[in-house]
Amino acid sequence: MQTFPEHGTPAEAVLAEVDTLQGGDIDWRGGRAFSLVYHPDDAALEALLHEVANRYLHENALNPFKYPSLVQMEKDVVAMAASLLGTDPEAGSLSSGGTESIFLAVHTARSWGDGRGVATPNIITPDTVHPAFAKACHYLRIEHRRVPVGPDLRADVEAMAAAIDDNTVLLVGSAPCYPYGVIDPIPALGQVALAHDTLLHVDACLGGWMLPWWERLGEPVPPWDFRVEGVTSMSADIHKYGYTFKGASTVLYRDPELVRHQWFLYDEWPGGLYGSITTAGTRPAAPMAGAWAAIRFLGADGYLRKATQVRDATRAFQAAIAGIDGLAVTGTPDMSVFEFGPAPGSGVDIGAVGDGMDDRGWNLDRQQGGLHLMVSPYHLTVTDRFAVDLADAVAAGGTSRGKAAGYGGIAGMDD
Ligand SMILES: Cc1ncc(COP(=O)(O)O)c(C=O)c1O
Repeated sequence: MQTFPEHGTPAEAVLAEVDTLQGGDIDWRGGRAFSLVYHPDDAALEALLHEVANRYLHENALNPFKYPSLVQMEKDVVAMAASLLGTDPEAGSLSSGGTESIFLAVHTARSWGDGRGVATPNIITPDTVHPAFAKACHYLRIEHRRVPVGPDLRADVEAMAAAIDDNTVLLVGSAPCYPYGVIDPIPALGQVALAHDTLLHVDACLGGWMLPWWERLGEPVPPWDFRVEGVTSMSADIHKYGYTFKGASTVLYRDPELVRHQWFLYDEWPGGLYGSITTAGTRPAAPMAGAWAAIRFLGADGYLRKATQVRDATRAFQAAIAGIDGLAVTGTPDMSVFEFGPAPGSGVDIGAVGDGMDDRGWNLDRQQGGLHLMVSPYHLTVTDRFAVDLADAVAAGGTSRGKAAGYGGIAGMDD
């Protein structure tokens, strides 16, 4: 265990230690990791992001009056996201990631409910939503009503409607959900939300920066964004398919009035009025500047090129899986995120397949029902190798070494 260092260490030695420590980290550059990093396959974008991050390393977005450049960038990013997703250019903010965007949207719903006299609020979600909703409810002491999805793995709208009562402040659908990559029936949820006068959040942390391009490529995309009546808020992560580095997401609202609920204002201390629109106080500036730069650099044509790579890689991975006896993609994924597992009756031990892929240098995330893929542009360069290795791993058979299904801080631990 490290104790506090008595003396400083020369920079070269610190960097050498960093090298050693990083030696054990996942090698995402090789295209063998499927979540955590969205490899854009774009050296020029990467160089730009490094440069911008350097310039904003020490800035602080807490005080907008001192950093007009950051105010401008945040406004620009929110307005650009709003024009992509179909809402008011001022109705939202940046946040540090999907979890914070979700937290803020849930908090906004609670505060909206406060104004209507709801003392013990609840939110209703399908059971496939990201754990960030459970986390937000836990922190904010809101009841989380989880409703099992239907046989198609999408939100069961009737069952969700049946769970609504006078204390319901928010319904949630995903576009798409993380585990299976399917989009919930947002128009039907919108009608239920309107009929019951409640808010509806679409978690588009994954799809927000991909589905608009998917649609333009002519892929079938069920309605999911602000064009759908009844959708009142949305989370969409720029640090996923927006291809900036970590620390950037957008939370957007249909009605600019709702943003008011996101603000925390406080003047009962000697330091003057404190106003903050996110959970963080001091806000790192680099992710804001990075998000702004990535969007400006790529533009719609750049995002379309990347979406084409992702679509083609997704098709190639899915064709490889379909071509191997005993495996099947779970459900009918709508985008570039999906699970595959044993085909019914095949008897394939999918844990053993995951182990076999580990041994061949791949990093597939384990879920309860199978292995999970989140496809990035760079993956287009590794689809053939994947097909060969997967076929070999299945042919090798065997039984699972017992790595548990996991995500986040415990992923990769043994049973
Ligand atoms: C659908 C969905 N929502 C929310 C999140 C949370 O995002 P973050 O990890 O940036 O907090 C994720 C992360 O993968 C996600 O897939």
